Amino acid sequence: MTTFSLRTDKISQKTRPALLICVFLLSLAAPVSLLPAPCHCADIELPEISYGKENPAGPKILVAYATRAGSTAEVARAIGKKLAEDGAAVDVKPIKKIRGFSGYQAIVLGSAIRRGAVLPEITNFIETNKSELEKITVACFIVCMILRENNQENREKAASYLAPLRTEIAFVDIGLFAGKLDYSKLSSVDAFVVKNFIGTPEGDMRDWREINDWARNLGKKLRK
Ligand SMILES: Cc1cc2nc3c(=O)[nH]c(=O)nc-3n(C[C@H](O)[C@H](O)[C@H](O)COP(=O)(O)O)c2cc1C
Repeated sequence: MTTFSLRTDKISQKTRPALLICVFLLSLAAPVSLLPAPCHCADIELPEISYGKENPAGPKILVAYATRAGSTAEVARAIGKKLAEDGAAVDVKPIKKIRGFSGYQAIVLGSAIRRGAVLPEITNFIETNKSELEKITVACFIVCMILRENNQENREKAASYLAPLRTEIAFVDIGLFAGKLDYSKLSSVDAFVVKNFIGTPEGDMRDWREINDWARNLGKKLRK
């Protein structure tokens, strides 16, 4: 069974003293780690890009994403590109840069998952724009590592990350995608916690065929 939880089986008598020191040091860092996760790396690409300018008659779609280490941005870009290939005019933007969305027929919200939840800018966006969002079509996708093993149990767990949002908005479709973990793109506290406590290995587990298929089906739904 795959879980995104503390691996106590990795702790032996020998490593216990070192672990206690680490826990002590982490407790000193706790106030920092409880702050909303900042974007740590200057080299994280935050694409702002338009696709399908040749489709002025097609549906106008906004893909708004929230990322910390960049993998969700790349997924958002792939989804935007695919929607445009199927006839839409698409803008892909970091959610923090969105000042309004009048003129769009649909919005696709995409978030990385951190500590069992979507990133706070997604939740804030929904809270702030709830009444406007109720007037257009909204789809959502998340990118997370629990789906590196794509079985029923893990899909249910991944879907549960979205439960708080689903009480706010009726999504026309939900995409649950495996993500990417690259320790070099994390803050030192996050890298330490993920490496030593959670135990999730590095890797790019994104399934581009699954992502493109989801976008293609979404495009069909939006055209109806
Ligand atoms: C500190 C931290 C916490 C994470 N928490 C979870 C989690 O609770 N569940 C999960 O499935 N993946 C979790 N992940 C994995 C990320 O969701 C995954 O690496 C994703 O691709 C990151 O997206 P980004 O590159 O756009 O930031 C976590 C990653 C980090 C670094």
